[in-house]
Amino acid sequence: SDEEEEGEEYLFKVVIIGDSAVGKSNLLSRYARNEFNPHSKATIGVEFQTQSMEIDGREVKAQIWDTAGQERFRAVTSAYYRGAVGALIVYDISRRTTFESVRRWLDELNTHSDTTVARMLVGNKCDLENIRDVSIEEGKNLAEEEGLFFMETSALDSTNVKTAFEIVIKEIY
Ligand code: GTP
Ligand code: MG
Repeated sequence: SDEEEEGEEYLFKVVIIGDSAVGKSNLLSRYARNEFNPHSKATIGVEFQTQSMEIDGREVKAQIWDTAGQERFRAVTSAYYRGAVGALIVYDISRRTTFESVRRWLDELNTHSDTTVARMLVGNKCDLENIRDVSIEEGKNLAEEEGLFFMETSALDSTNVKTAFEIVIKEIY
C-alpha cells in the first residue's frame, strides 16, 4: 500500500484522566472531530479515537483513550494505562474539588505506567471565568511541583484544545 511505501508510521497511546464531568470526553471530541456536546453523558468503560498529525514531515498517529471519571463505571485500570506514553490530567477550573483530586490521579498514573510518560495538567472550562474556583497561578504551581506541562483549555469554545494534545504528542515523538 501507499502507507507501506512511505515507510514507518508512529502510533502513540495517550490517556485522559480526571474526575467525572471535568470535560474529558468533550476535549477528545473537540480535538478529534471538532464537536462539543453540551448534554454529554458520563462515560461508561473506555472509548478511544485515533488522530493523525504531521511532525517534521512524518505522519504521527495518537490513539487517545478516554475513560470514566466515576469509579463505578471504570474498566480495569491497569489495562487502561498499559503502554501509555502520554497523559492529560484534567480538572475543571470552576470546581475546586476536581483540582484537589489531581494528586490522586497522578498517583494512579504513576502506579500503572512508566515514569517517561509525557504529562500535561489541563484546567478545562476556562470559558467559565465568572465562576472560576481555581486560579491560573495554582494550576501553574502544581504543574511545576509535579513536573508537568500546564494549560487551561475550553472544549466549549476550543481554546488551547489542539495545542494541549499536540504538545503532549510532540513531546513523546
Ligand atoms: P465522565 O465521563 O463522567 O468522566 O465525564 P467527562 O470528564 O468526560 O465530562 P464530559 O466531557 O462528559 O463533560 C461534562 C459536562 O461538562 C458536559 O455537560 C459538558 O458539556 C460540559 N463541558 C465540557 N467541557 C466544557 C468546557 O470547556 N466548558 C464548559 N462550559 N462546559 C464544558
Ligand atoms: Mg466522559
